[in-house]
Amino acid sequence: MEILDGKKLSQKVLESVKSKVEKLEKKPHLVVILVGSDPASQIYVRNKKLAAEKVGIKSTVINFPSDIEENILLKKIEELNNAVDVTGILVQLPLPEQIDKNKVITSISPKKDVDGFTPENVGKLAAGLEPYYYPATPQGIIMLLNEYNIKLEGADAVILGRSNIVGKPMAQMLLKHNATVTICHSYTKDIEDKIKTADILISAVGKNIVRCKMGNKNSVIVDVGIHRDSNGKLCGDVDFDFVSPSCAYISPVPGGVGPMTIASLMYNASIIY
Ligand code: GUN
Repeated sequence: MEILDGKKLSQKVLESVKSKVEKLEKKPHLVVILVGSDPASQIYVRNKKLAAEKVGIKSTVINFPSDIEENILLKKIEELNNAVDVTGILVQLPLPEQIDKNKVITSISPKKDVDGFTPENVGKLAAGLEPYYYPATPQGIIMLLNEYNIKLEGADAVILGRSNIVGKPMAQMLLKHNATVTICHSYTKDIEDKIKTADILISAVGKNIVRCKMGNKNSVIVDVGIHRDSNGKLCGDVDFDFVSPSCAYISPVPGGVGPMTIASLMYNASIIY
């Protein structure tokens, strides 16, 4: 069994983004909007800002209070859409309940939508056209699989989770690479049987649920989950000690998908339209 070392590859990706940015005449500027003070979101936003600094991308964090009115947020996004010095806009999710998340995402200019969440970018990906940006987590996973020369063409890929952030765009990107894709979710029957058929298993559920032997010794496991167990230890969706002896490659938590997501986002933030 070999580790898919996201930490190592992320450093390589960040280095290459840095040297690209150094050569750019017009420099990128990423604006991150954070609404409220959710502790996990605060950490994610801080990490994005630190990564941007590391690669020479200017970043600005705008922090709104959690009771902000939707109009004010939409007005700010419109202002950023029109600001020539702003090249990327990211609204950290989740948003408070009084705000219509879809309305907010839709209001971002697709050419500045570094998350790839706007309907135009989602639609282009689904239609087999080039979006302006691919969503960071699935794009980072594809980079990681490519780095280890894992063949996607013809592979049976099983995705656990159907979120707009990971599961659905991951399925589209794997399809684009000619994999056969199964998406499992809370209503799926006999999930364990499906997991065992996977050449590539991508788990993005947010719960420690994968505890079975893989049916195929050459299988590849990518663990997108990150949470703390009852002892406070960071862990993923996959019971690493139980499952890893039955596969060929597995991404660890931490040190797998997390750093790749940030590097992939920086890759996106360096693209200017
Ligand atoms: N919250 C959790 N993941 C993400 C992400 O990839 N982008 C944004 N904007 N918010 C998130």
